[in-house]
Amino acid sequence: MPVTAVFGMQWGDEGKGRVVDLLASASDIVVRFQGGANAGHTVIVGDEKYVLHLLPSGVVQDGTLNVVGNGVVVDPWTLVREIDGLQARGIDLTGRLLLSDRAHVVLPHHKRMDEALEALRGDRPLGTTSRGIGPTYADKVRRAGMRVADILHPSDVAASLEANIVAWNAILDRAGMPAIDPAEAVDQVGEVAERLRPYVADTADVLIEAWQSGRNILLEGAQGFALDVDHGSYPYVTSSNTIPAGVFAGTGMPPKSLDRVVGIVKAYSTRVGAGPFPTRDTGPAGQHLGKLGNEFGATTGRRRDCGWFDGVVARRAARTSGVDGVALTKLDVLSGLDEIQVCVAYELDGERISAPPAYAPDWERCTPVYEVHPGWSEDISGVRRFEDLPVAAQRYVRSLEALMDAPVEMISVGPQRDRFIAMGGRLVGVS
Ligand code: IMP
Repeated sequence: MPVTAVFGMQWGDEGKGRVVDLLASASDIVVRFQGGANAGHTVIVGDEKYVLHLLPSGVVQDGTLNVVGNGVVVDPWTLVREIDGLQARGIDLTGRLLLSDRAHVVLPHHKRMDEALEALRGDRPLGTTSRGIGPTYADKVRRAGMRVADILHPSDVAASLEANIVAWNAILDRAGMPAIDPAEAVDQVGEVAERLRPYVADTADVLIEAWQSGRNILLEGAQGFALDVDHGSYPYVTSSNTIPAGVFAGTGMPPKSLDRVVGIVKAYSTRVGAGPFPTRDTGPAGQHLGKLGNEFGATTGRRRDCGWFDGVVARRAARTSGVDGVALTKLDVLSGLDEIQVCVAYELDGERISAPPAYAPDWERCTPVYEVHPGWSEDISGVRRFEDLPVAAQRYVRSLEALMDAPVEMISVGPQRDRFIAMGGRLVGVS
């Protein structure tokens, strides 16, 4: 399928980097369309581990073109650091990376502002990644942001940056934080813009042309369904549309260009930051998942809360996004649990509900209705065929398919590139 979108079906951290890496082997172009350096996509190749925050995960596949689309908010210093870091490890992105001239830029004061806004929320912070994501998208929507094209015009930078910073300084003042000096910010931006200039392009035009000529394009979502600014657990969300609907605004490609949607779902749930998480388990099972799943944020290092698979969230994610197939990750982490619970519905005020409530405090009060499955003790990391999984694991996978009403097309059983089970060879590049 020429144009495929990949997105997370939970609260992010589903293992997207690893699946995108696999799919990228059959792609000509890999594109990020939303989010920013709040993401942390991990790709492991042999003994090498790459954690990518802004660069599409296709960079570690020889021969792919990688595009940072207009919907991404770009921290230029992080991007330059990633480009240099890969260069030092023998991966040269010259001619293999394009940055949209329309992408908005995350500036140092946006990060300070992220912290100030969190402080002003008092005892109800969102638990953001402090990467300046919310303030940068806020500036974009209030038409006060700076885009890549703007920072390439140094003579105009000073005036717009000053107006922007003065507005935000008032909030810093309220949070008791020191003001930002616009002059200092202008110098910093000028330097980094020159480093990015060689990569800047009208990426919408490039992508439309690539689609029209039948190239294989992979659209790499960041975060996940439940963090979507419209459909997630608002306000405990990120500031972009993480679902495939975000692809079109975030790249400039037309809706009819999308052929296939692949959802990525972890075999259990995790969440970092604040907000509803009904299936959270703080007991031994949750500890097992956290330890064996190495559930620490790739961006912030924060420990992720762990819990059981939330079928209410996954089903809604599949329905909202029209998922064609699912990649199920980290099934191996469940090995060794006597019993595995799956949330099939919520209970709220004595009523059984099958969709997440709109009001976050209601979502927080929901209690999960669990189905209990027998566990398995075998190490499954060496399994490469579905039929060779323990019967209990096979049944578990089938029950998730029924809950999501979508076929599982690939199961990952370890972080390394070759540790996966292809189901019927349907996933592009995984046949
Ligand atoms: P922000 O995107 O930094 O504004 O953070 C908003 C919420 O999204 C917080 O709960 C973060 O922990 C969460 N979040 C943002 N990016 C990711 C991610 O890549 N994985 C998991 N959670 C994320």
